[in-house]
Amino acid sequence: MIQAQDYYAAKAMLDWQIELGATEAIGETPVNRYEAPAPVRPRPVAAEAPPEVAAEPQVDAVAVARAAADAAPDLESLRAAIEAFDLCDLKRGARSTVFADGRAQARVMVIGEAPGRDEDQQGKPFVGRAGQLLDKMFAAIGMGRDAPDPGAAIYITNVLPWRPPQNRDPKPEEVAMMLPFVERHVALVNPDVLVLMGNHSCMALLGRKGITRLRGNWVQALDRPTLPMFHPAYLLRNPVAKREAWHDLLMLQDRLRKPA
Ligand code: URA
Repeated sequence: MIQAQDYYAAKAMLDWQIELGATEAIGETPVNRYEAPAPVRPRPVAAEAPPEVAAEPQVDAVAVARAAADAAPDLESLRAAIEAFDLCDLKRGARSTVFADGRAQARVMVIGEAPGRDEDQQGKPFVGRAGQLLDKMFAAIGMGRDAPDPGAAIYITNVLPWRPPQNRDPKPEEVAMMLPFVERHVALVNPDVLVLMGNHSCMALLGRKGITRLRGNWVQALDRPTLPMFHPAYLLRNPVAKREAWHDLLMLQDRLRKPA
């Protein structure tokens, strides 16, 4: 039984607490009201699933190039096929597509590396300083790109039809994707012999470099006799190597004099 005194004492205590601001009955767990309020967290939004992006189909640039090159029935179609080929990034930075120069009936087809600044500007292979030296070299054995006689004419192209930025070395994947066009180019011109100027052309067509060893030796490439030579740009930097280049030109002349 509650004593009247207990009742009044308890009520006085409750009144006192209400006066202090207590408005709720004490809960089961203590509340520390001095504690900093918990930060209001944004309600987690259900993470949206990323939109379904269709995986880009992988394009086989070499296969596309091969199909385009093989479909070209003549040199003009091949030029158009190269101009329409969009998978090589070099094209975007180049001013011109440098296809070829000289006589397509020539017995000798010269394959260089890639256009430089002058070639990019003029749209023709080997027209800068290296090209002028190349012309002098062939003129020394009575040959040239304008010679009316196919026996004295040369036809000139490059492994890459677009100038690499800052004339950097061609990348293997650039060479690989343009090689089908070079192969078709050679098949359409059908020269008696190929001359490969420098390491990059040798790497592209022979799968080998080391021009110092390769030069001056006949090898086979694309089913025809092929002579690797020092690149004329190398000869401009190393004039003493012109002696070897002269030797190689005489080898070429000798070969052309022999019956095919
Ligand atoms: N060097 C090359 O290999 N080709 C050119 O057309 C010009 C410079």
